[in-house]
Amino acid sequence: QVTLAMPWFPRRKTDLDTFADKVLEMGEELDADHPGALDPVYRARRAEITRIAKTHRHGQPIPKVEYTKQEIETWGAVFRSLKKLYSSHACREHQLVFPLLEKNCGYSEDNIPQLEEVSNFLKDYTGFTLRPVMGLLTSRDFLNGLAFRVFHSTQYIRHHSKPHYTPEPDVCHELLGHVPLFCDPDFADFSQIYWFTVEFGLCRQGNDIRAYGAGLLSSFGELEYALTDKPEKRPFEPHKTSEQKYIVTQYQPIYFVAESFKDAQQKVRDFSNSLERPFSVRYNPYTESIEVLDT
Ligand code: TRP
Ligand code: FE
Repeated sequence: QVTLAMPWFPRRKTDLDTFADKVLEMGEELDADHPGALDPVYRARRAEITRIAKTHRHGQPIPKVEYTKQEIETWGAVFRSLKKLYSSHACREHQLVFPLLEKNCGYSEDNIPQLEEVSNFLKDYTGFTLRPVMGLLTSRDFLNGLAFRVFHSTQYIRHHSKPHYTPEPDVCHELLGHVPLFCDPDFADFSQIYWFTVEFGLCRQGNDIRAYGAGLLSSFGELEYALTDKPEKRPFEPHKTSEQKYIVTQYQPIYFVAESFKDAQQKVRDFSNSLERPFSVRYNPYTESIEVLDT
């Protein structure tokens, strides 16, 4: 008889403090053709901003970043172009909350919203909070955060030379791609198998296919591409989707199309229940901790 060891996972919110610097590095794993890799001024600025995430601890407010004029211009370019595309390419849940974020959280083309302010808004709305992070986490750590309804967000912005696609998450991706969906209660309740859903998911709405994945909703280039017939589209099927390999720094060649959030949520639940493991866990909202049942 084989006894499966229980892997480490965070039990308390403070355990998330250990993820602070476990990220893919620009210039190392992310070297590919990052448009900022050869720009020393950009690299220094990015390092200055990621220091906040490195030293952040659970329970502290997220320090405000004074964005430069150039950074605000980059944000403005991303914001303006995407806003035009949202009415025809974004799912209705995204369109519904966007005006609320404009009204309450300082979303506008000449202001980069502050994570602390957005986090407080989300906390009220669906119980999610934001936590600053230095870069792309492993799927495992990212999902471990979601178990506590903590969403890890970068705070630096993409390189000004390439506003329409960047090979790593940045503040545009978090604020324009993720935050609006975390305002939707159904969506907020389902966030597993996240690559082909939370990041790059498509979903059927009426006779159309629309985007709900944050990696699409934050990239003018990929959002437009995803709804053409260039990439392959397959039905969202957790057993298959979870085995699909992907690259993190280029447009995706394959997307998975959900019938609806509810349907996708049910499929993910069935999938999770089908996974064998010798213990089960439960989130205790009173103590904000994970309890292990029947070991
Ligand atoms: N391409 C996205 C954008 O331009 C950012 C991004 C790149 C990304 N790789 C990613 C987002 C992996 C999530 C996961 O906004
Ligand atoms: Fe993301």
